[in-house]
Amino acid sequence: MNTDLVADLKRCERKVFLDEPTSFHALNHLAKTIGGPELYIKRDDMGPLAFGGNKLRQLEFYFGDAVARGADTILITGAVQSNFVRLAAACAAKLGMHCHIQLEERVSKMDVNYRNSGNVLLNQILGATLHSYPAGEDERGADLNLEKLALNVREQGGIPYVIHLSSDYPSIGALGYVAGAIELAQQIQSRNITLSAIVVPSGSGATHAGMLYGMRALGISTPIIGACVRRSASEQVHRIRTHCDSMARQLRQTNPVGTDDIILNEKFLAPGYGRAGAHANEAIKLSARLEGIILDPVYSAKSFACFIDYARRNINGDPLLFLHTGGLPAIFAYQDDMLAAVS
Ligand SMILES: Cc1ncc(COP(=O)(O)O)c(C=O)c1O
Repeated sequence: MNTDLVADLKRCERKVFLDEPTSFHALNHLAKTIGGPELYIKRDDMGPLAFGGNKLRQLEFYFGDAVARGADTILITGAVQSNFVRLAAACAAKLGMHCHIQLEERVSKMDVNYRNSGNVLLNQILGATLHSYPAGEDERGADLNLEKLALNVREQGGIPYVIHLSSDYPSIGALGYVAGAIELAQQIQSRNITLSAIVVPSGSGATHAGMLYGMRALGISTPIIGACVRRSASEQVHRIRTHCDSMARQLRQTNPVGTDDIILNEKFLAPGYGRAGAHANEAIKLSARLEGIILDPVYSAKSFACFIDYARRNINGDPLLFLHTGGLPAIFAYQDDMLAAVS
């Protein structure tokens, strides 16, 4: 283990919400059925707060920073069915803080389940204050509006902390997956497994960049495949680079990630963000009916489709690992799509 990375990460402010490693296990039934190599999964979909998910790791560092700055109110923005905002509301509740959530209209799907069920319902149960923002693709505009809401909080005597969306701000959350990479490296080494690749979803890019940075900083050269779930590979590559540069600055290290390390697969992005295509539908069905594992249609189904594709093309290869990032409450907002996927 690279002790420098562990020590450098320890210097960053953090509130630990995941106090033990997430589960790591084999997917034997799937591997046998599709005739692929050994398949493994790391279950970041299962966590201690409000249905868990990858964003919990990222929020450990945002809340660490917020608490260090004396904040009592968190402001965050995301799509109507964002998992990030739901978990921010849960972390705020746990720490006795207020949470303001700005919901952006990012997808054309706006039926009654999408607007009210899944994460939207949980945000309300968790006691967050909800705001609406109509321009779903304007990241800087969404951040500016959050700053206005933060001003209101300050005028009313609160101490706000804004979790920004655009990549103009330091990639604080990506550090969560540097910690995730350290945890995963220990799990792989203790099982004596040599992986041919790790497949992760690449949305904001914080998970992908953090995992990639962490693995390279540990001296592990396993390819990290980012399955595009929001943007094309050419748009995404710049984001991953920006996150890695930002993490290197925060950790006061030389960036260990080279240009060739950034691997993106956009084959499963169609028909677009928030909409599952035929491959994602097949992934939902195979995962549920062969392994009893539920995937969401926005993130994990697309990245699992990418994972299955690699497995099918590497029948005699080394084992592959899938990082399940969660998103499970959203299946109740996408009921029609989920039923169509398995019919
Ligand atoms: C369940 C789930 N998986 C994956 C992602 C993508 O992760 P990232 O934004 O770190 O790229 C998200 C993003 O919101 C998510 O909610």
